[in-house]
Amino acid sequence: MAGVLRQVTAVRYVTPLRAGGSVPGVVEADDLGTYVVKFTGSAQGRKALVAEVIVGELARALGLRFPELVLVHFDPAIAEHEPHQEVRDLLNASPGLNLGMDYLSGAEDFTPEVAADFAVDPLEAGRIIWLDALTANVDRTTHSSNLMVWPTFGIAPPRLWLIDHGAALVFHHRWDASAPDRAYDFRHHALGHYAPDTRAADAELAPRVTDELLRAVTAEVPDAWLTGEPGFATPDEVREAYVNYLSARVKASGAWLPTDFPSRAELAAENALRAARTQRGRPDWLKRVPDLHGKPAAEQDWSVHLG
Ligand SMILES: Nc1ncnc2c1ncn2[C@@H]1O[C@H](COP(=O)(O)OP(=O)(O)OP(=O)(O)O)[C@@H](O)[C@H]1O
Ligand SMILES: [Mg+2]
Repeated sequence: MAGVLRQVTAVRYVTPLRAGGSVPGVVEADDLGTYVVKFTGSAQGRKALVAEVIVGELARALGLRFPELVLVHFDPAIAEHEPHQEVRDLLNASPGLNLGMDYLSGAEDFTPEVAADFAVDPLEAGRIIWLDALTANVDRTTHSSNLMVWPTFGIAPPRLWLIDHGAALVFHHRWDASAPDRAYDFRHHALGHYAPDTRAADAELAPRVTDELLRAVTAEVPDAWLTGEPGFATPDEVREAYVNYLSARVKASGAWLPTDFPSRAELAAENALRAARTQRGRPDWLKRVPDLHGKPAAEQDWSVHLG
């Protein structure tokens, strides 16, 4: 069951993580912990932090592996030594409460290369895809998995960990435009070719997503990230909107449950076809330039997933 997020104070800004679009920072805190901090001043804004808390704590409550989240008091003065102006601008725009995730030391991103010889249990794959479908998380694809493999030191078998739910809950960008039973396209999900048993996951997990649980996870979002939301008078009204939406959505799982996943071979064929089409459309001089071999470019505009 969800609890109350711990609060810590950042004492040292270690380094920006440029692999992340929102430029999270590695930060040490007064509890001697090390955290990956997502900042309220990032272009993704505080809604990304709201989604991180709600979806991440839901994942944890459902038994999926997800690093601890903490609320981080951050004073930009601790990062005065940061040499890059754009990073300093981000930090200066983020005084006060930000969101920290326990830093998994030595963890590896679950890239297609890592995935190639990593076994995933079909039921675990099904549970993760089910959570992503429930929470409209369209950012867990083959090339942007937002999954990590940890530990990697050989002290225990490496397992999959969920990270980065900032792009989930896409409906909160336009509350009135998206029906709770809407189906999203999960054919390119990072775990699609592990024979995910989404039906078993639905039978197991849907009854556990009660209004009580939804109220508990939304209660963990700080008021500061919910105030001033257009169309809502108070933070609690916004929390209620998340509860109502997800409660309606979980009951409509028959309408959105993803069950159709291309095999590895089908995906490879699709990618090859896309690459060939790109190549054909190119002028001769450009044909010599290597392309992404059909890899979809990183998605930048989430509005395509709205209503
Ligand atoms: N808890 C963690 N422990 C170790 N490394 C992490 C952790 N969280 C994130 N990272 C590393 O930082 C990278 C970026 O993190 P994350 O995906 O959360 O950022 P983001 O800005 O939301 O990214 P994007 O929106 O581009 O996907 C990850 O791919 C991973 O390599
Ligand atoms: Mg990410």
